[in-house]
Amino acid sequence: MSSIDKIKKEIIAATCANSDQLEAYRVRFISKKSVVGELFSQMRDVPAAEKKAYGQKINELKNLAQDKFQELIKSIDNHHTDVEQAPYDLTLPSTKGAPGSLHPITITRNRIIEIFEKVGFNVSDGPEIEDDWHNFTALNFPPNHPAREMQDTFFIEKNPDIALRTHTSSVQIRVMENQQPPIRTLCPGRVFRNEAISARAHCIFHQVEGFYINENVSFVDLKQTLFHFAKEMFGKDTKVRYRPSYFPFTEPSAEIDISCNICKGDGCNICKYTGWVEIAGSGMIDPNVLDNCGIDSEKYTGFAFGMGIERIAMLKWEINDLRLFTENDIRFLEQFKSL
Ligand code: DAH
Repeated sequence: MSSIDKIKKEIIAATCANSDQLEAYRVRFISKKSVVGELFSQMRDVPAAEKKAYGQKINELKNLAQDKFQELIKSIDNHHTDVEQAPYDLTLPSTKGAPGSLHPITITRNRIIEIFEKVGFNVSDGPEIEDDWHNFTALNFPPNHPAREMQDTFFIEKNPDIALRTHTSSVQIRVMENQQPPIRTLCPGRVFRNEAISARAHCIFHQVEGFYINENVSFVDLKQTLFHFAKEMFGKDTKVRYRPSYFPFTEPSAEIDISCNICKGDGCNICKYTGWVEIAGSGMIDPNVLDNCGIDSEKYTGFAFGMGIERIAMLKWEINDLRLFTENDIRFLEQFKSL
């Protein structure tokens, strides 16, 4: 009986700081060969009259040892005090992950949107598979305009009415058909042309279209808006010039050049030694286009512009081959963290 009390005290006082000590406790008090187990095997030597009381005592002791064991397991889990006993060095720094970065086209698109959003533009979307109306007819393309011909456009399943859009100008039509002025929106997206792939041309690329329609919108608004964009995108010393041009959907039309941001106008092979690089087409939206979409051309005027995202990215980072954007070479892609 006295050794039972002694063991009882020992169990109550037991603590453990790690899994080795927990195992030592288990061996001493729980296992078959434990001191408690030993008391059970001494049962046969106990006089018959005392067997009952003895049995009760050692059963209580056994339960106490079990309860304490559960308690000790919990205390170890809670305190993680066995860190230093783990088979690993948990304090080592982890292996370096390889988080992705945004694609340079995405970074450029986001930056373009950010610049125009600050001056009141929102973002609109349209389908990449278009019909002739939205891609050409509503944009005032004359019936035999060369851009409609097979060498430029990917048509779907031999149906000449359905094609992959050749420009984001189609989204202008979709927006105008569904909204009344004032409209001030940007339409970024992927476009498709039946071109041989080279350093300067690709059959899939990206554009951002932008346009503003309201009462009394004039060419001055176009100039100021794009001037603002050029300075935000390429630096405050950037110069902008407008060259007369032709697009079916704008009248008058102009091509927008900026001073070459690489040679700062001195002449280099990017600007072909002219000091200027083209960044966008633009113009005042042709009244026919407004009428085609149910917008009153007597009341409203608007300007529009369209630029290639690849082109802006190439100028920004001095990238000289369009194909790099679609090859997914990690060595190329991981260079672009921000703009
Ligand atoms: N859609 C023309 C193209 O793909 C670019 C363009 C020019 C868009 C003039 C415009 C614009 O909105 O006004 O070449």
